Amino acid sequence: MTPVTSTREGAVAVLAFGEPPVNSLGFATRAGLVQALQAALDDPAVEAVVVVGRHGLFSAGADIKEFGTPLMVKAPNLHDLNAAFEASPKPVVAAIDGNCLGGGLEFAMSCHFRVVSENAKLGLPEVKLGLLPGAGGTQRLPRLIGVEGALNVMLGGEPLPARLFAGSPLVSALVAGDVVKAAVEFATAQALPAAQAGRMPKARDIRVREPNLEGLLGFARNAAKTAFAAYPAPLRILDAVQAAATRRFEEGLAVEKQLFAELLLSPVSSALRHAFFAERATQKIPDVPESTPTREIRSCAVIGAGTMGSGIAITFMNAGIPVHLLEVKQEALDAGVARVRDYFEGQVKKGRLKPGQALEKAGLLTPTLKYEDLAQCDVVVEAVFEELGVKEKVFGTLDRVMKPGAILASNTSTLDLDRIAAFTKRPADVIGMHFFSPANVMRLLEVVRGKATSKEVLASTIALARKLRKTGVVSGVCDGFIGNRMIEQYSRQALFMLDEGASPEQVDQAAEKFGFMMGPFRMSDLAGNDISAHIRERRAKEQPDLVYSKVADPLVAAKRWGQKAGAGWYDYRPGDRTAYPSPFVAKMIEDYRASKGLKPRRLDDREIVDRLVYALVNEGAKILEEGIALRASDVDIVYLMGYGFPVYRGGPMHYADEVGPYQVVLRMRDLARNPYGDPGFWQPAPLLAKLAQEGGSFAAYDAGLAKRAQAA
Ligand code: 3HC
Ligand code: NAI
Repeated sequence: MTPVTSTREGAVAVLAFGEPPVNSLGFATRAGLVQALQAALDDPAVEAVVVVGRHGLFSAGADIKEFGTPLMVKAPNLHDLNAAFEASPKPVVAAIDGNCLGGGLEFAMSCHFRVVSENAKLGLPEVKLGLLPGAGGTQRLPRLIGVEGALNVMLGGEPLPARLFAGSPLVSALVAGDVVKAAVEFATAQALPAAQAGRMPKARDIRVREPNLEGLLGFARNAAKTAFAAYPAPLRILDAVQAAATRRFEEGLAVEKQLFAELLLSPVSSALRHAFFAERATQKIPDVPESTPTREIRSCAVIGAGTMGSGIAITFMNAGIPVHLLEVKQEALDAGVARVRDYFEGQVKKGRLKPGQALEKAGLLTPTLKYEDLAQCDVVVEAVFEELGVKEKVFGTLDRVMKPGAILASNTSTLDLDRIAAFTKRPADVIGMHFFSPANVMRLLEVVRGKATSKEVLASTIALARKLRKTGVVSGVCDGFIGNRMIEQYSRQALFMLDEGASPEQVDQAAEKFGFMMGPFRMSDLAGNDISAHIRERRAKEQPDLVYSKVADPLVAAKRWGQKAGAGWYDYRPGDRTAYPSPFVAKMIEDYRASKGLKPRRLDDREIVDRLVYALVNEGAKILEEGIALRASDVDIVYLMGYGFPVYRGGPMHYADEVGPYQVVLRMRDLARNPYGDPGFWQPAPLLAKLAQEGGSFAAYDAGLAKRAQAA
């Protein structure tokens, strides 16, 4: 398809542009638009121009894939495009429907008029990519809607309903129905006469009037410094808006250009753009084509109404899917139902749901003690005790009662899914849906693909994840899948560091300063120290030679399970989740070191962070090589969405790319000289060693995989 087509409606040329899926303004589209405009200007029969995006939307903005490539700046670049349309001697009307975002809105603001559908969404989401609107948006938007409104749009980054801007010069007309027809009528009835009378409105000509400019910017700067401390873009947006309000248009544009270029090179923007594409890449499974049929999910059953089961039930109910919730005992069932009810009542109290809506959602739940009631459900998610024997009974029963074609999912976090599948006569229908706690809050869902899982079941589960507003990341079967397998190595390092001289507070603070939502010890207190103790116990049996610090043993003996026990690595006070440094734990660690003859030394923050993060990277590389994760960026999404890894660092594998695999391996060699801990720990995974040796990166590795998948 040519990127731009031109048709005529009387004296109006209608330029329709864009390629699926989002009409981004890549080079070919920009060039096509400029050419089509020139042709319209050269045609004496054309008196006005309407420009419209194809496929029911205007444009999602610049083509982000071009960033950092020569195509991004190749003329006509976005500035050239905007300048050409703004300078047109014939009036140009942008006909806007659907999304009009980023560079798309900046282009529309360079047209003389904008006829906007009531259904349109307008926004400048660049801040979410660590950028500022770099094609005149910071200069034109304050002129069209004022400084305060423009700051809200640019700092929030959300697409907003067009009606919010009705009455401002941003929206020349808000229309219902066919936006092209309305724009052509507008062009004839209003744009042309205005142009003929010498009134060709240009955003650049408007003067920004904001009497309280200093106050507004000062307030926003203070807020940005605290709320977005790690993110440079919000402050740069404020600088650009200040220029819009205080300098000539061209000067302001130059300031914007300079700031955009700086942000584009920043590691934060690189990480956020990586996360944008990584999230979308999770949906692509190389051997499962998009055309794979999916099963419709209209009803669900959840087995076990404990912590996870009730959260999973809420997740389905929030997506409007009716849930049968099954337990073995009435008491446990009542407790689960109460948890679900409390959640919806809480939503009403917080003003997130109206009482009627909560009632409607609550009506989607059917508690039961009988398997027969579940038989017709399209999917069943098992969330019973983590014991293979219990799972065997449950899956045996499900196999007997569930209708053919039902998807049988397990929420197991550590057990072998292939063994669970083998408890049924339909292993192709069995899959892992590993939710994270709290299941109704966390966006991550590890979708565990068993040996026998069918492609149809896999594609259906990925589609279901989207319906549940989760990001499904495919994982192969292994102990801990992607996320927990990596976190075990991170936790091992955290414990070794206590042996060597650090305190839990010091380790946590270093991790949190790096950007982790929570350091390893606070996280363990939240998840429950019994869970990690159980894993260590299992390892001691299965891999007796694996070196594990025993510093946590007295913690376990004292049943300091964490927040739920009011005591863990930290002390807690009733009704207060603040982690207070614990004298008990300090003494416990001291005694432990003394008993082992360990002489404590000072560890600095850099060592702490390197050991935690590179432990993740190395295990992540092994997981990749084994094919457990489909791509390095999937590993990143698991960590960004499930483990509180700082989004502005893009995930552990992206971070390793930023540092450079060569440097990572060098540092690992350095860390391996440590006489404590496990001498084998820092043996680089073969893939990581290879990348280091060849000057490669995980991103290039992913690109190679994608290329091979495409060729296959
Ligand atoms: N450039 C290139 N590709 C883009 C894109 C863009 N601006 N926006 C979306 N895509 C791609 C996605 O990667 C995805 O590709 P895939 O199918 O190969 O995975 C496809 O379009 C569909 O995207 P979504 O899955 O996100 O589709 P949705 O329908 O859920 O959402 C959307 C549509 C709301 C437009 C969402 O894609 C979005 O928010 N896009 C980004 C918008 C944005 O940030 N624009 C600003 C760009 S920066 C800019 O303009 C700079 C300028 O100021 C100089
Ligand atoms: P839980 O102990 O809170 O709940 C388990 C529930 O299952 C209990 O209510 C119990 O009565 C019920 N149950 C036991 N046997 C049953 C049977 N035969 N039939 C029906 N119900 C039965 O446990 P939790 O934490 O909810 O974990 C459940 C599963 O989810 C486990 O497999 C666990 O590994 C997994 N998981 C747990 C996470 C967590 O953070 N707690 C995170 C991700 C997965």
